[in-house]
This record gives sequence, structure tokens and C-alpha cells, in this order.
Amino acid sequence: MDHKPVLFQEVMAALRKEGPALYLDCTFGGGGHTRGLLESNAEAAVVGLDCDPEAAERATAFCEKRFEFIALNFGKLATLDRGPFDGILMDLGVSSFQLDTAERGFSFNKEAPCDMRMDTRSGVTAAQFLETASEAELTRAIRDFGEEVAWRKVVRSIIETRETHTWDTTTALAAWLADLLPKHTRIHPATKVFQGIRIAINDELGNLERGLLAAFAKLKPGGVLAVISFHSLEDRIVKQFFREKAGLPIDRHDARCQDDRAVQATLLTKKPIIPTSVECAQNPRSRSAKLRILQKSF
Ligand SMILES: C[S@@+](CC[C@H](N)C(=O)[O-])C[C@H]1O[C@@H](n2cnc3c(N)ncnc32)[C@H](O)[C@@H]1O
Repeated sequence: MDHKPVLFQEVMAALRKEGPALYLDCTFGGGGHTRGLLESNAEAAVVGLDCDPEAAERATAFCEKRFEFIALNFGKLATLDRGPFDGILMDLGVSSFQLDTAERGFSFNKEAPCDMRMDTRSGVTAAQFLETASEAELTRAIRDFGEEVAWRKVVRSIIETRETHTWDTTTALAAWLADLLPKHTRIHPATKVFQGIRIAINDELGNLERGLLAAFAKLKPGGVLAVISFHSLEDRIVKQFFREKAGLPIDRHDARCQDDRAVQATLLTKKPIIPTSVECAQNPRSRSAKLRILQKSF
């Protein structure tokens, strides 16, 4: 399976430190960034987290005394009994392992149970969500998280159709959505609905908000927090959190005066770092990545 860590050099440059350093990789995945951090500095140690049991299995192949894996959702990072850290990384979203493994149900062009959970040990599957979610929960997933313009039609149709029908496989759900939705865009008509359901059932935005708060608290003075996001909803949360910590207005509606804003950090990326055209060509999944970097004040 092809796995290329996104914005690898840029992340290494952001977190590089001479001498003893303790890092936290909140999204171990295939361990690409973790390996880079361990190799970049012989005195570095890394704590790696992931909520996916398959990532935990991959981590057992890391026979490295300077590495420790902990199976934890970064939404519960406040409970982690490690740190403080010199550098913390969050490389959000799903890994190529998850996307490429049909049985995980993340991909609409591979026949599989309609699951989409990152942590397969808990929570509801996508199929269960479609069967049981309230109208408000479906709207939040499909309108707010999926940003599907035809959300009303999708929500109404799910509620009507689920009386007599279940969507047990990803391909069945994708085909049903393709029949329901117009096909005038370049992307598959199911793309946005799948994204919205995935974000909802994994509580991706809630975990990100809690994770950012806890990560910042676990940084040493002068420590660096680097976050790679893949869609605008995540990126907005990261951007606003970073601006708040840097004492900057979080958006153009933020009317607080300078004295009301505490400066706890320096924003190292005024604009997010994005992959080069070469990286996008080599790794099309990197195309929408945005890296933002924050340094906690000394
Ligand atoms: C894009 S991949 C990370 C790839 C990794 N940086 C690498 O180089 O291999 C994202 C990983 O984060 C994990 N993940 C996503 N949300 C998480 C959360 N809330 N808590 C813990 N792990 C999470 C996913 O299971 C996935 O393995």
C-alpha cells in the first residue's frame, strides 16, 4: 500500500530541534512523520497516538526504544499522562491505509459494509447513523459537514427511504445517492454526503477542538504545534484557534480590543503552507492539505 506522509519536509522543518526533544504525534497513521522525527534527531523521542486499532498494529512494527504508542483519541488528549512536549503534530483526517482498505467503508467505489469509523471498537457505523439519526443530526452531517447544496433533498429522502430500506454497503449508498443527486460536477455525487457522514460519526470537529486545547496546554514554553488539515471546516477551527492564542482577531467580526486578547503564542504561518505542485503530482491526496504552525510563548 502506498503511503506518503504529506508535507513531510515542511513538518520536519517546523518541529526540528537540536538535542533531547520529546514529540507527540497525535495521528500516527502509518508512522511516516513519526519515523522522520526519530531519524532527524538521535536524541528525540516520540509518543504516537491513534484511535484506529489497525494503526496500533502498525505501530508494533516500530522496534524503537525512543518510541511509545498509545491507543487514544486525541479528543481525550487532556487525559494523557505524558509531556510536556517540544513539538506536537496533528495530521488530520483519514490515512491512505483507511481509504485503501475496502472493508473500512470510507470509499464509495469499493464494495464494503457502510462503516466509516476510525475507531472500529466504538461508536455507530455509517449504516447505523443513517438508520437512527434525527433530522437535525442528518442536517448537521449533510448540510454543515458535507456542505452538500442539495442537503434538503438528501435528508428528506433518507428519512422517507429508511422506513423500507437500509444502506448496508458503501456501493449501495453511493449508487442510491448517484440516482438522487445531479451529476453536473467533476466529483462523484456521493462525495460530499460521504464526507459529512464520516465527520459526524467520528465527531471529527469536536475532537479537533478538544485536541487543540489539550495539545496547546501540553506544549513546553517555546514548543511548536503543527496541524495539517484537509478541508475548510477543519482549517477554520485551526486558524481561529491559532489566531486566538496569538492574540489576533479570530475573524473580521472579532471586535475585541487588543488589551482584551492575551498573547500566548506566535503564529509562524501567516498563510498556511500548501504542498508544492511536485508533491501534488506525486501524491494527489496531498492536494487539499494546509499546514499551520504555532509556537507557544517562552
Ligand atoms: C492522515 S493520517 C496520518 C498519517 C501519518 N501522519 C503518517 O505519516 O503516516 C490520520 C490518522 O489519524 C488518525 N486519527 C484521526 N482522527 C483521530 C483522533 N481524533 N484521534 C486519534 N487518531 C485520529 C486516523 O486514524 C489516521 O490513522
